[in-house]
Amino acid sequence: MNTAIIGLQWGDEGKGKLVDLLSEDHEFIVRFQGGANAGHTIVVDDKKYKLHLIPSGILRPQKKCVISNGVVVDPKILVNEIKNLPENHARIYLSDRAHVILPEHIEKENKLTHLGTTKKGIGPAYTDKVSRSGIRFCDKKWVEYFDSDIVRFLSPYICDTRLLLQEALEKKESILFEGAQATMLDIDHGTYPYVTSSNTSIGGLYTGTGIRPRDLKIIGVAKAYTTRVGAGPFPTEDTGKAGIHMQEVGQEFGTTTGRKRRCGWFDSVGVKYSSQINGIDEIALTKLDVLSGLNDLYICINYLLNGKQKTIPSNLEDLQNCIPVYTQIAGWHEDISNVKTFNDLPFNVRKYVDLLEELVKAPITYIGVGAGRDKIIKRC
Ligand code: IMP
Repeated sequence: MNTAIIGLQWGDEGKGKLVDLLSEDHEFIVRFQGGANAGHTIVVDDKKYKLHLIPSGILRPQKKCVISNGVVVDPKILVNEIKNLPENHARIYLSDRAHVILPEHIEKENKLTHLGTTKKGIGPAYTDKVSRSGIRFCDKKWVEYFDSDIVRFLSPYICDTRLLLQEALEKKESILFEGAQATMLDIDHGTYPYVTSSNTSIGGLYTGTGIRPRDLKIIGVAKAYTTRVGAGPFPTEDTGKAGIHMQEVGQEFGTTTGRKRRCGWFDSVGVKYSSQINGIDEIALTKLDVLSGLNDLYICINYLLNGKQKTIPSNLEDLQNCIPVYTQIAGWHEDISNVKTFNDLPFNVRKYVDLLEELVKAPITYIGVGAGRDKIIKRC
């Protein structure tokens, strides 16, 4: 069985931790879109690893990690990341069809400030890709832009990853696909133009790898509340006490830029929309422990636009004018971070999870209750 992990909100749902957990059962772990705008923090034996490009599975021995053609790669960042790993790895494969982020892409992006991007050159690199003036690792020209030590270091990792993955499929070796960013940041389906420049939803997996796995389980990842980093509409944002609680307890700072993440209530309208786009099989609900200590919780169950019920509107102004309708539910004060099974969770916690499941119409099979590798309740 192959598995895809896709974010259902605006990113930072804790996908990396789930990838790290599930990578145990897969031979290959693949990044298929985005670039070093992503960021995962994985805690292993109390040590934190920050990864931007290399799939989180690299922290498990024997796993093969692929950066496929849909990713845009800054060679300097990749070299540093490989060098900072606990051991040196021949298990990384970089697609020769992946586009190279050049110094000029980063310079260009610094002039485009209003979208609140991560300034990693992602947008300009994808712009050149689509306008057919980009440079890929298979193009000899890429070496002209970087110091020879970077070129020398990366060259052995570059290969035809499509072929590698196709052969893996034929040998029935299992593949885990690690989505970066999330569906609400998808260039087609997200809150355009406040989005990233790639297809973060399931379609990006196919174009971004060149393979078509037959048996694929799609797990959508959603935080038990909502966060967004950067500009753009965010209907359930809470700038009051509850939002500050989520920000502080959840340590909501961007892994890539260090920016404070905006926080707010769980938006079931948004998560249902994203679940449909990806055709998810199940949901992993993360950071539920962060809500401990709040007296009342709110879940957005509807949007109203000019008094009428609405799903996520395409038009940005309409989305900005949508009024979220909430249902209120009692919170809990217990520390749930050591709970190992769903039935051992306090009653109000189970009620919260059950209600989300009902609203989004998908089974919640994983529940994150803390930062460590083992702080995840499995319900499957
Ligand atoms: P870009 O991807 O750097 O072009 O930024 C476009 C938008 O996506 C900005 O609002 C970023 O803050 C957001 N973004 C990009 N990558 C991530 C991520 O990994 N997590 C959360 N937001 C992200």
